[in-house]
Amino acid sequence: MGGYALIAENIISEIKYRTNIEQLIGEYVQLKKRGTTLVGLCPFHSEKTPSFTVWPQDGHYHCFGCGAGGDIITFVRQVENLEYPEALEFLAKRAGIEIPKTVFEQDNSKQKLRVLELNRFAARWFHERLFSSEGAAGLAYFKKRRLSDKTIKCFGLGFAPAGWDNLKKAANAAGFSDNELAGAFLAAKKNNRTFDMFRNRVMFPIIDSAGGVIGFGGRVLDDSLPKYINSSDTVVFKKSRNLFALNFAKKAKAGNLILAEGYMDVIMLHQAGFSQAVATLGTALTQEQARLMARYTDKVVVAYDSDKAGTAATQRAYEILRDAGISARVLEMKEAKDPDEYIKKFGADRFAALLEGSADALSFKLRAIKAKYDLDLPEEKTACLKETASELANLESDVETDVYAAKAADDLSADKKALLSEITRLRRSRAKRRQKEELRRSGLPPSALARTEKNGKFDAICAGIIRYLFDNPADCGRVCALLADEKLPDPFWDSVLDYVKVRAPEGAIDISPLGENFTVEQMGKLSKMLSGPSPCSDMNEVGKFIDRLKLDRPIDIGDDTQLMEHISDLQKSKKS
Ligand code: CTP
Ligand code: MN
Repeated sequence: MGGYALIAENIISEIKYRTNIEQLIGEYVQLKKRGTTLVGLCPFHSEKTPSFTVWPQDGHYHCFGCGAGGDIITFVRQVENLEYPEALEFLAKRAGIEIPKTVFEQDNSKQKLRVLELNRFAARWFHERLFSSEGAAGLAYFKKRRLSDKTIKCFGLGFAPAGWDNLKKAANAAGFSDNELAGAFLAAKKNNRTFDMFRNRVMFPIIDSAGGVIGFGGRVLDDSLPKYINSSDTVVFKKSRNLFALNFAKKAKAGNLILAEGYMDVIMLHQAGFSQAVATLGTALTQEQARLMARYTDKVVVAYDSDKAGTAATQRAYEILRDAGISARVLEMKEAKDPDEYIKKFGADRFAALLEGSADALSFKLRAIKAKYDLDLPEEKTACLKETASELANLESDVETDVYAAKAADDLSADKKALLSEITRLRRSRAKRRQKEELRRSGLPPSALARTEKNGKFDAICAGIIRYLFDNPADCGRVCALLADEKLPDPFWDSVLDYVKVRAPEGAIDISPLGENFTVEQMGKLSKMLSGPSPCSDMNEVGKFIDRLKLDRPIDIGDDTQLMEHISDLQKSKKS
């Protein structure tokens, strides 16, 4: 458990007490009263008739269209793209509550502070070296790449001299230990010797949005390898959660962000006036980075290298961005390999023009698909249409699907209706495959899977039993006694049951604390379970549900008693 668990419980109830769910959601969705519920257009998928429903008295919401749902904390996680603790902080702030720091966090923050101090020291030291005689080669390198003094200062660029332990000595003298240097990824230990990690490289400090130096990238001055060395993850640096230059880009007023591949691209873009540019840190774009961007904008222009690797990375980035609710567009730089080169060759104005006209990512993909086939050959044309349909089947909005299908059909001289029906067919078969995949991941043995796949009863039965317990916590003991080993056969519902067992004696059960360990999708399953009428109204009906579970249970053939029970169960069910 993270440091939060200690304080979460009473903070959660305080936040929920002080937050009016109707007001909170009303800030994002126009809600209308319908009976005891409120309805509106779902903010998580595009729809024309409202299926997004809020139950103010129980404090939860559920969309009957896309399945999103949960409590106020889940809502903030989803709509603001925040992690659970951040969502708590967001709501606490809104309600005027202060979240106390836990002991765990305080201990950890001391160490973090120390690494940040060391990083700042190192950044300053590298920067000073760049302008000293030791750094002449580094400065010449940046000049060769046409960076101005202003840019060099603004980004705090530096130079790590060639010796084995120059930084180490300076840092030691300033009171930092070898262990601290190693912990910050600035030095490594080998055979009882500590040596600098970055040697004879130009240095790019990585600064987080709070202005702290969290890590470094270092580039060689020539063609030797590795071209770049990047800090590994440390207590203050998680590569997958940070973006280079976001500290500047978040202040840009461009209304979008430009995502480039490398340090030099971003720096050149900023120098040319595009201060909304960021880059990942030597890795492919992660979901966390996409969510981070989504906090500042819903429009991202992908400006990756125009080589084969860059094109493939663009397509992956496009999907990740889309999943974070961002509409991505793709920059096509025909006569240059990357933004750095493009700006040097053609200037900032032409880059601005390119930016204006950057095609949206899907059109880019569709063009790439079309280019692969010879449309004069019938079998190639069919293959092209199939691949196009497969791409369009990823779209979530019907409106968008229609627009793009029309465009694609026109472009490929094909029938739009045929294209659309292929898309529908693909979506159905994918939904089925996803369902199967989910079941497989649930870890159930194949025999049980075969049965559940056939009738799909597991999930609904477990949900029904849990729902009964939410409505009748006093019956928890009796229900558990009926369940084999007091367990539910589905791992998700079983972990909910564990929670219910602990909470039932208190009376009312709140789903909110589960948010710490559950994804927003899982919270959605909980809100669905709580929405609408309960499938079981008394213990007798719960008993029947449990009997059905037992029939569906995988049985161990080696165990005679179980087998006998199973057979007699089956006989009973045949009679009734
Ligand atoms: N990268 C890395 N390690 C490497 C190569 C690249 O971490 N060995 C990362 C760096 O963050 C780099 C980005 O991938 O900035 C893009 O790589 P590349 O296109 O090779 O570098 P550029 O930024 O274009 O660098 P340069 O223009 O200096 O060659
Ligand atoms: Mn490049």
